[in-house]
Amino acid sequence: MFGYDPAASPPAVRPFSADRFVDPQAREAFLAELTRDGAVADYLLRLRRADEATVWVEVTATLHQDPDGGPPQIDAILRDVSERRKLEDRGRDLSHQLLQSEKMAALGQTVSGVAHELNNPLATILTWAERLTGRDVDAGTRRGLETILSEAERAAKIVRNLLTFARKRNTTRALVDVNAIVRDTLALRAYEQRVSNVTTIDALAGGLPQVFADPNQMKQVLLNLVINAEQEMLAAHGRGTLVTRTWYDDEAEMVMLEISDDGPGVPDEVQSKIFDPFFTTKAVGKGTGLGLTMAYAIVEEHGGQIRLRSGAGGASFFVSFPAAAGPRRPVAAPVPLPPPATAGSAVLVVEDEPALATAVTDALRDAGYEVDHAEDGQAALERIRETRFDLVICDLKMPRLDGPAFFRVLSKEQPALARHVVFVTGDVAGTDAERFLTESGCRWLPKPFRLTDLLRVTEDVLR
Ligand SMILES: Nc1ncnc2c1ncn2[C@@H]1O[C@H](COP(=O)(O)OP(=O)(O)OP(=O)(O)O)[C@@H](O)[C@H]1O
Ligand SMILES: [Mg+2]
Repeated sequence: MFGYDPAASPPAVRPFSADRFVDPQAREAFLAELTRDGAVADYLLRLRRADEATVWVEVTATLHQDPDGGPPQIDAILRDVSERRKLEDRGRDLSHQLLQSEKMAALGQTVSGVAHELNNPLATILTWAERLTGRDVDAGTRRGLETILSEAERAAKIVRNLLTFARKRNTTRALVDVNAIVRDTLALRAYEQRVSNVTTIDALAGGLPQVFADPNQMKQVLLNLVINAEQEMLAAHGRGTLVTRTWYDDEAEMVMLEISDDGPGVPDEVQSKIFDPFFTTKAVGKGTGLGLTMAYAIVEEHGGQIRLRSGAGGASFFVSFPAAAGPRRPVAAPVPLPPPATAGSAVLVVEDEPALATAVTDALRDAGYEVDHAEDGQAALERIRETRFDLVICDLKMPRLDGPAFFRVLSKEQPALARHVVFVTGDVAGTDAERFLTESGCRWLPKPFRLTDLLRVTEDVLR
């Protein structure tokens, strides 16, 4: 315990000598209690080893006074509890982290609410400023407008960053190629694997549908699976083979990913626990037991599943992600020849925020479109029943009838027009809106948007 040669004579060890105590006062207090009570139980002390490193020791001791007046004798049992102390400290750290993440989540919600509220006025300011800079104005006015434009863009960027922070686990999703993610992630481990005798085999299917996912989170999932496999294979055999496969499950409409190793596998009695927070079989300081917990949460959030199959030949993890429908644009357009120029087309703007509605309506009129405005989905339905429109630009969140509900009715009543809907919306990552947009295959613009983007998309869809 104190780092002495086992052959050293016991008197040389002197566990309670003054120079062994890290804190001299602790020694006084310890000896005082021992003298007063004649005994101590599980008394915690920090002592120095022969090499000056410190150990936490629990002492249970009895004091024997020498009746002849000689120095007293201490009978003591000392237990090294350094490891336990370390675990307790870690436990404190972890609960601190959890508390921290709860606080962050609460703060994140507030921030995200405020940021969303700022999106509408910012969109209005940007749209107006952009329109006005297009006019014939004097140099001073132009300078002012350009400043408004650049500052509003700066504010919009701050809002975007705030939303990224607020989401944390719900960062930006996009249509991603699972194979590309696998290649990127394996590349991160390539050097490590080469020097530690891990061979990788990958069988990545071609022509996989994309998935709507956060690429960084997917990498995180994959990286943890790969590192787990490496650690287990190396610990068991000092080498290993890692197999990565991807394929498309037609029936389930899922993109599948498999990570298999030829390590020791996961023992039966452990299998039900591996996804539990803080479950780890690794040495203190090596694993936090959070890798698979995070992976599980991320995959669930994406609407997928993660499963383990383990046997004598090693462990296999299977991860599934729903395949994205992708923009549903029929190859053979059912609509007759598109008009050569889109100007003159009839556009309906569905937006409940009056300022933004006016800005967008006016801008589209400037660009040569016939524009009408409805203040929510219900009003929009009434409008499309009486007038023919070529395109609908629609907000997602509105009172009475919101964007998705309006879209469902429109798809039934006027399927051709339903293919010409552009949604504009605030942040959607990780919300029902995101699922709706993916499934509907509609084009959409994030708020606040640039006028040029709106005009470009309008023209694109109309063509
Ligand atoms: N490929 C594998 N083969 C065998 N056992 C595994 C494998 N992957 C995970 N395990 C078991 O599951 C446990 C939990 O894994 P998890 O990734 O959650 O935590 P960890 O790897 O121990 O720690 P961390 O990921 O936080 O560093 C591991 O400690 C290990 O016992
Ligand atoms: Mg891990």
